[in-house]
Amino acid sequence: MSAADVRPVVDPARLGKRIAELAAIGGNGRAVTRLGLSVEEQAARDLVGGWLGALGASVRRDAAGNLIARFGGDGPAVLAGSHLDSVLDGGRFDGALGVLCAVEAAESLRAAGARFRRPVEIVAWADEEGARFGLGLYGSGAAFGRLPAGAAERRDALGVSIAEALRALGERGEPEAARLPAGAAAAYLELHIEQGPRLERAGVALGVVSDIVGIFHARVTVEGRADHAGTTAMDARRDALAGAAAMLLAVEALARSREGVVATVGELAVRPGAKNVVPGAATFSLDVRAGDAAALEATIREIRAAVRRVGDERGLRSTVDVLSSVPVTPLDQALRDLFMRAAAAEGVAAPVLVSGAGHDAMNAQLAGVPAAMLFVRSTGGSHTPREHCDTADAALGAAVLARALGELAC
Ligand code: GLV
Ligand code: MN
Ligand code: MN
Repeated sequence: MSAADVRPVVDPARLGKRIAELAAIGGNGRAVTRLGLSVEEQAARDLVGGWLGALGASVRRDAAGNLIARFGGDGPAVLAGSHLDSVLDGGRFDGALGVLCAVEAAESLRAAGARFRRPVEIVAWADEEGARFGLGLYGSGAAFGRLPAGAAERRDALGVSIAEALRALGERGEPEAARLPAGAAAAYLELHIEQGPRLERAGVALGVVSDIVGIFHARVTVEGRADHAGTTAMDARRDALAGAAAMLLAVEALARSREGVVATVGELAVRPGAKNVVPGAATFSLDVRAGDAAALEATIREIRAAVRRVGDERGLRSTVDVLSSVPVTPLDQALRDLFMRAAAAEGVAAPVLVSGAGHDAMNAQLAGVPAAMLFVRSTGGSHTPREHCDTADAALGAAVLARALGELAC
């Protein structure tokens, strides 16, 4: 049967039921917390792997903790999926929807009698969010050979390293071993909620991603001098937290001054952390993004200069440790066109969007594996329990994904 003869029919009720079932893992009825390489993320892999195994896929977990379910025999595979981990107190759709729609696409293709001319792999990348170890896009980074040096030794807040978390799952603690051999992946398709308001405002259910913003992650450490809060005069202090506050306001002002640039300080730690001690040290995170590489670079340069200037003015020592730096990533034009055609066939004139969020598709594309992303309208923002996606929109997305997969693999 050729791709043109296959008529996959997605089942919105089945998809809706699976969204609810998955949300119960790490969920409290409101928010979902399924951190990377945790027991909850593994339970989610088990649930999804069970569905795919029942469809006839051969299901495995790789050395990094990624779930890979393969239909078909040897040769380069067409990959489709997303991630199953969440941020702390996150929603039920970020990442999860992409995996569930890929399962739905595969199931509807099988039910329509499709035979895969090329192998298809449904994937769930481990720890995309980096919410536990501070290393975003971890699982796809391992698979596509883009892990930073020393990744296995990154530690969570309790001191557990990635290698130890992998060993607790029964792996060897060597995520680099998950690297896919050259040529193993022919293409990567990822469906994801939009996580922003543009599709809702445009009144369209689906969009096709042109580029993903460049993302710079760093940790800034500010060192001053801890002192008695009652006996140290204001002009004799080297208050690390006050310095960090001035730095992060400078970060905000610099990002505001440039169109299309966003910068966030989302983590802040103070030592020794007592109300009657002048802060001796402060550490904060830095997340800077832009769709324009030059604007991103200029902003990072200016942030570094501002951190130095504030430190000099206040007698503080500061260091900026870069955790990761992923460039602006244009996605594959031919696969974007494929998603456009597939959306049109489902009656949707999908607008082209730039993604402000990072996605595993970046690692595929940057490793030379053509990648494309389909966005599904979502409301309520994202990385919060308010994030929402209508099942009807999700099912439409799954139908488009099924068409695109069918065209590539059948
Ligand atoms: C992932 O959600 C990111 O963009 O940080
Ligand atoms: Mn995501
Ligand atoms: Mn996310």
